[in-house]
Amino acid sequence: MYRYETHLHTAPVSKCARAGVRESLLFYKRLGYDGVFITNHFLDGNVNIDKTLPYETKLDFYVSDYYRAKEESEKIGIKVFFGVELSYHGTDFLIYGLPPEWYYKHPEIMTLSKKEELALMRSEGAFTVQAHPFREKSYLDHIRLFPRSVDAVEVENSGNSDFENEMADLYAERYGLPKVAGTDNHSAYRPHICGVECEEPIETESDYGRLVLGGLAHVSGLDVPKEEHEWILSEPEGRVSVQLKANPSTGFCWQYEASGECGLLLESEETVAQTASGLCGAPVFVKYVFRPSSQGKGEIVFKYRRPWENLPPARTFRVRIEAKEDGKISLRYHEFED
Ligand SMILES: [Fe+2]
Repeated sequence: MYRYETHLHTAPVSKCARAGVRESLLFYKRLGYDGVFITNHFLDGNVNIDKTLPYETKLDFYVSDYYRAKEESEKIGIKVFFGVELSYHGTDFLIYGLPPEWYYKHPEIMTLSKKEELALMRSEGAFTVQAHPFREKSYLDHIRLFPRSVDAVEVENSGNSDFENEMADLYAERYGLPKVAGTDNHSAYRPHICGVECEEPIETESDYGRLVLGGLAHVSGLDVPKEEHEWILSEPEGRVSVQLKANPSTGFCWQYEASGECGLLLESEETVAQTASGLCGAPVFVKYVFRPSSQGKGEIVFKYRRPWENLPPARTFRVRIEAKEDGKISLRYHEFED
């Protein structure tokens, strides 16, 4: 079986994504995935660019993460495929099988109704999926279903509750639509991820739809083993908590530099076991908790090195945050840079 992520957002293109391309690819590579589809929010959704700019300029930005991922994919050894997530007031559709050039040739899609847009895409060979159809979130004012406009339904989505996924499964079942799954990953690391397992390898974008329609791609899920976690980020009570994997027995340790207008102060630093084994020489997490002293943006750069060596760091981890007016923290972006 060959395993693929079908629903992945990356920063900076998806405004809500917190992990960059390289970080995301490394995560899936470590888990033994064969490939990923980059499905960032399209120009009708939560894309991270000024929407008043010309269509082509926005598209250049839109495809940039995909091309960056293509470059990285060869170095990392994981396949990368192009996909799109369209949005209609928060009701989302995943589109596979149309290359970036197709979007450059069809600016009219921005003015079509979603029904017309999906029909056009399907007539041009796209494989279309209604993503997380029963999701209930504050940004969605109601559930909208498009059973006649899609080829399949995402019935397992890691961002949805079990109930929402069960409803999606029922929807697919009753309309006789094939079932697929995707993590809707916005942060590289997640404790549980979804995807498809295929009986044949995916070589091109159009293989995916063919395999699903032919019954050769199956819904799959995976609980990520704790040993695979490289970092854990959270925003407890107006603070930012960063846990980074380290192996002190090698002499390496993390050093950090915090900067930016929000004045980040280190509140605590401690070492916690990564796994229950607690074996001598086993990796640990070093946990840092920072508190902003005012609102605004800030950045913490962590470098992993042996303090006595005058060499470039073995790893660099960058976290960008924003301290909001209401005291909440928003983790904007993070990525390993090595
Ligand atoms: Fe998504």
